[in-house]
Amino acid sequence: MVACMPQYNLWKRRRKRIDMRTQIAIIGGGPSGLSLARKLSLAGIDCRILERRSRAHVLSRIRAGVLEQGTVDQLRNADAAHRLDRYGLLHDGCSLSDGKDMFRVDFKKLSGKSVTVYGQTEITRDLYDALDDSGVAIHHETESLEILNIDTEVPEIRWTEQGMRKSLRCDFVAGCDGYHGPSRAAIPTSQRTEFNKSYPFGWLGILSETPPVDEELIYVRSSRGFALASMRNPSLSRYYLQVPADEDPTEWSDDRFWNELRRRLPEQAADTIVTGPSIEKSVAPLRSFVCEPIQYGRLFLCGDAAHIVPPTGAKGLNLAASDVYYLSSALIDYYLENNWEGIRDYSQRALRRVWKSMRFSWWMTNMLHQFPDRDPFDLRIQDSEFNFVRDSENGRRAMAENYTGLPY
Ligand code: APR
Ligand code: PHB
Repeated sequence: MVACMPQYNLWKRRRKRIDMRTQIAIIGGGPSGLSLARKLSLAGIDCRILERRSRAHVLSRIRAGVLEQGTVDQLRNADAAHRLDRYGLLHDGCSLSDGKDMFRVDFKKLSGKSVTVYGQTEITRDLYDALDDSGVAIHHETESLEILNIDTEVPEIRWTEQGMRKSLRCDFVAGCDGYHGPSRAAIPTSQRTEFNKSYPFGWLGILSETPPVDEELIYVRSSRGFALASMRNPSLSRYYLQVPADEDPTEWSDDRFWNELRRRLPEQAADTIVTGPSIEKSVAPLRSFVCEPIQYGRLFLCGDAAHIVPPTGAKGLNLAASDVYYLSSALIDYYLENNWEGIRDYSQRALRRVWKSMRFSWWMTNMLHQFPDRDPFDLRIQDSEFNFVRDSENGRRAMAENYTGLPY
């Protein structure tokens, strides 16, 4: 018995839970969680972030990089836009092509607004740096996270970190943990509806240290499938090709990628494109998904935890920014003015805007991709959709208004 004591004490110490308290527990340290934390901390509201991955892992993810004016404004308000203001590329338009001809949609002229090209990886880095300044605690490499008591006044999160059990009691939980995180599942299935649409293709993307083929983005609806010429900065290009959803990226040598891209781009772009080795190559599936409602008890979902858009139109990050706007405003109104209205109406307000972007990205996806199951009638309708945008200023204006971002 005596010989067992040290081991028993060690076991007891391991089993002991470290208890903490905060106002807002934020699950997930992607763009949604980081920007929410930054806004709350600037307003003097206490919060903690719990992130399953390491900081290095979060900073290695490559995602779309087209920011609506509203997203840029949000980052400026959060005092996290110094590098964005310096290095972001202002785009006043983009081009659409049917693989032969190309026309421009002049965002600035048609909607009075522009977009900014600046990688999501950079935004994440800027937000981490800003949060280091604000002193917000970020717990990395959290494991076995559980969300408890969200329908009471004191929700609790429990997890394990470096072998230690931890607990965080809070006033509210922000579920910013992406599509695969546990927050959405914490809403009882009887209390939520999920709307889903999957598309029978994916995007094969590469990043290459070459100058972009054009100063602006080119979206191509070629008879061989969709292609997109995008960029991160004047010496870093991002290109995409429509491929089958289960395509293996290792089947695509750089040469195969560039040859196929040249065949899909309009001649003027194909002739001038500069090619080089890819520094990243991956396939992403396309999906539209919305959960309704995005709040339950004291849990609120933001960003990819609540909804997913196909990348056509680059709305993913921008929707995360608008959710964070509605949720941070609601929490600030509650703590600073004792006003519950924003909290009560969060789901309804955020989803009204989410569905409009959902429609827009679905519309762009439908207009620009080759669908294996389309009959001749569907194909004519798809041609006409594209021709309408090309030939009608109002058609282009509607696209410009949606692309640059609808009001909050
Ligand atoms: N516990 C803690 N963190 C978790 C857990 C978990 N169980 N599960 C997931 N996470 C973390 C992920 O590791 C990730 O860092 O939640 C974070 C979610 O980040 P994103 O998936 O980037 O989602 P979000 O912050 O809403 O950003 C939305 O960014 O991801 C893109 O395409 C997306 O552009 C969209 C925008
Ligand atoms: C990107 O640059 O990664 C990008 C740009 C526009 C899109 C999607 C992705 O619509």
